[in-house]
Amino acid sequence: MSTNIVWHDQALTKHDQRIKNKHHSAVFWFTGLSGSGKSTVANAAAKRLHELGVNTYVLDGDNIRHGLNKDLGFSDEDRQENIRRIGEVAKLFVDSGQLVFTAFISPFKEDRETVRQLLEQDEFIEVFVSCPLEECEERDPKGLYKKARNGEIPEFTGISSPYEAPDAPELILETNRYSVDECVDQLINFIKENNWL
Ligand code: ADX
Repeated sequence: MSTNIVWHDQALTKHDQRIKNKHHSAVFWFTGLSGSGKSTVANAAAKRLHELGVNTYVLDGDNIRHGLNKDLGFSDEDRQENIRRIGEVAKLFVDSGQLVFTAFISPFKEDRETVRQLLEQDEFIEVFVSCPLEECEERDPKGLYKKARNGEIPEFTGISSPYEAPDAPELILETNRYSVDECVDQLINFIKENNWL
């Protein structure tokens, strides 16, 4: 724990950044099983919004685990720390005036709730990327479910480690029923309904 640390107020506030960007800033917190489509939909949404002139950024599980969080594994404690750090990073992006998309399994309700508490009420949008385990397992884009079933990957979400679906997410995207483009439409409709563009 650090001591003798003083918080500095920034010359430019979140409000200043939003005025300049001409849009709201918030976190779209995607949660769902591996292979459910979190990264795919998050990236497609960020691209579509970018084309509309919106400042976006995607924080992606696999990428962050190569850098910032490369010291973390997949125990419950490490997943908790993974999500805690990403929550803090996401908050910085919100302060910088961007719409940030996070694509982490984030399997535990309590950890997602911790991130929600870090942010203002209209800054945390929990997006449940819903897809049945059987479908994710059939897709198996990285071949990880097969390995997990063979016992080669311990603590694999959905197989040997739990996934707690959200009770009341702001948005549900059903990737087994709708195409990527349709899911992006649903997300952009949500943004427009809130007058955030
Ligand atoms: S989280 O549970 O801490 O939120 P995160 O989204 O960062 O997970 O990382 C998940 C990705 O790591 C998966 O998409 C998969 O590619 C890979 N992975 C490797 N081992 C595991 C595991 N035991 N459980 C889940 N995902 C794993």
